[in-house]
Amino acid sequence: MTSSKKGKQKKIWNSLKKRYLNYFTETWVNQYEEILQKTPPIYLRYNKTKISEQRIESLFKARKITYSRLSFAPEAFLIHSNWRKLSNLPEYYNGFYYLQDLASMLAVIALDPQPDETIVDLCAAPGGKTTYISEKMENKGIVIANEYDARRRTTLQLNIERMNALNVIITNEDATLLSTLSQLRVNRVLLDAPCTGDGLLWRKKDFRPIIRNYNQLQRTTKQQYKMLEQAFSLLKCDGILLYSTCSLSIEENELLITQFLSQHAEECTAVELPQQIAQFGSKPLLDKIPTDLRETSEISKARRFYPHIHKTNGFFMIKLQKVC
Ligand SMILES: C[S@@+](CC[C@H](N)C(=O)[O-])C[C@H]1O[C@@H](n2cnc3c(N)ncnc32)[C@H](O)[C@@H]1O
Repeated sequence: MTSSKKGKQKKIWNSLKKRYLNYFTETWVNQYEEILQKTPPIYLRYNKTKISEQRIESLFKARKITYSRLSFAPEAFLIHSNWRKLSNLPEYYNGFYYLQDLASMLAVIALDPQPDETIVDLCAAPGGKTTYISEKMENKGIVIANEYDARRRTTLQLNIERMNALNVIITNEDATLLSTLSQLRVNRVLLDAPCTGDGLLWRKKDFRPIIRNYNQLQRTTKQQYKMLEQAFSLLKCDGILLYSTCSLSIEENELLITQFLSQHAEECTAVELPQQIAQFGSKPLLDKIPTDLRETSEISKARRFYPHIHKTNGFFMIKLQKVC
């Protein structure tokens, strides 16, 4: 990297650091900064609809790809060596696996899709979570994968085909103001919201898009809130909504959700994440929520994930349920 690029990166990092010091301790920020210099781990999940666990393991062994497994993400592999070739192997193009961060897998595990349900993935491209939802449903039921951006929709479609996700329908609505989809009432909704994305900092060597988004934080949170309203309105009684972002800001996570819960106190409740995920993740940032909004018993069911602690992308998730 040239010294002028490094200088720009430093400037961007310093402005992010200033924000982080509002939420986190100095030790936390220093440890986070340290991990940004390191190569992030590579995770993948194998695709049960295409290949057995034994066969994928023997394929990796034959290609001298070493890995370890994770008890709470049964399809996940943490890759230790030879990961560079993973996106070029025939097994990849055959859809035997999907390269995906562990936190993203955990969001789908937490959503807990069931065969024969109808599930909406409201912001779906490039399809990492859509295809995992479909797999968990054993290709039964219906997944509606919605994506507004046409170019990203093409990638979504390619991944759906590659991963043999046969129960997926693609739609192209603006998630802030649904039209046709708004007639639906479904079992589960995933809202993996577009966000400022600073949780991806260690994977994006160019910090630029992240800081641009950060400067538009207010606009982003308004958009997320509208999407959350739409996502919630799609649920049947007892329906489940999994809200997630790859952002570390409190505005896009705890504050947004607490505000939503206080506006929908009669009809929305937070539910516990699966035990292993709840134990693995870090607690949400409770003490920064204004006392008039604070409903700690509800928001405390959310979890955060951090590169330097969990070896995942920076991530936030909470599971909500419609009560009627
Ligand atoms: C965080 S990404 C989703 C990643 C995806 N869930 C996955 O796991 O592969 C958010 C997506 O929302 C899409 N998006 C942004 N604004 C949108 C809108 N108004 N309506 C629907 N999708 C939108 C973006 O194009 C982007 O693909």
